[in-house]
Amino acid sequence: MHVDAVDKKEVIMDLKGRSFLKLLDYSKEEIEYLIDLAARFKEMKKDRIRHDYLRGKNIVLLFEKTSTRTRCAFEVAAMDLGMGVTYLDPRSSQMGKKESIEDTARVLGLMYDAIEYRGFSQKIVEEIALNAGVPVYNGLTDEFHPTQMLADILTIKEEVKDEHIKVCYLGDAANNVANSLMVVCAKLGIDYTACGPASLMPDRRLVEKCQNIAMQSGARISFTDKIEDGADQANVIYTDVWVSMGEPDSVWKERIDILRPYQVNEKVMRLAREDAIFMHCLPSFHDLETDIAKDIYKRFGIREMEVTDDIFHCEKSVVYKQAENRMHTIKAVLYATLYDEREAG
Ligand code: CP
Ligand code: NVA
Repeated sequence: MHVDAVDKKEVIMDLKGRSFLKLLDYSKEEIEYLIDLAARFKEMKKDRIRHDYLRGKNIVLLFEKTSTRTRCAFEVAAMDLGMGVTYLDPRSSQMGKKESIEDTARVLGLMYDAIEYRGFSQKIVEEIALNAGVPVYNGLTDEFHPTQMLADILTIKEEVKDEHIKVCYLGDAANNVANSLMVVCAKLGIDYTACGPASLMPDRRLVEKCQNIAMQSGARISFTDKIEDGADQANVIYTDVWVSMGEPDSVWKERIDILRPYQVNEKVMRLAREDAIFMHCLPSFHDLETDIAKDIYKRFGIREMEVTDDIFHCEKSVVYKQAENRMHTIKAVLYATLYDEREAG
């Protein structure tokens, strides 16, 4: 049986065989199709309707950085779809150490139907996709985090009822999550404001691309260092960590100094719309319950970083819903790119 599902749409998108490396490669209609499909899979999961449409297929998950949500979302999504899953942690493959990216991709592509990669440069995931001969999914690079965005947009669709939406991202507006958020907003006609210090604004070339896309979609893409302007009329206040995986420990001091004013707290939420929601991709430093947060407290004396604990836990916060939606949306990507009616029994 085929999830036809996205039945409400006249056109069923054919994404079979496509990689999912960055949202710039996908059209507005394709992104919306994946979100609708994810919503359908979410219903099926809640209603306990079996959906193992990818029985007999296998995926390998390559992680060069740590993960809770992305790894578990891929594993559960793949298993619900009936797939076999292999997880390779940073130490247990030869890739990059004894074997080139190209050789690794070619070998894995002959054994698996799909490959997920989380790591450092975007070039690596693009190189894997070039050589694997099977769909490759970006589970986060230093530049982009596209699967996170599908979950975030599904969450926004569920939580925000306004026709025209404004998202304000506060903090390190040049990181992977902020870059991807700007792209997805530009594609979908959602207003996006990056609010932070000038030194942490996104790359100019990416901004130009997004502004061109926004001209078609009707989104407004803007940048400010003033919280009053950024948060004003926002339906969504979004933030992420001040230092991302792979960045040196030495950047903490400067980041804390320049990003402290952009912490999401009660004052920021009061500047946004009354019904605004708070979003964070997680993991988050909002208390002293982690080793890194304790170390930062010892070194710099701060107990909460990008968001205060009260906002993280308040009723406006949808962070755990976002996390759950990772699984439903990744399932949509796997299904859309791997399901083949001819092979199905
Ligand atoms: N949001 C996200 O990607 O979380 P993980 O790092 O736990 O995968
Ligand atoms: N910007 C963060 C996102 C984690 C999901 C990082 O790259 O560490």
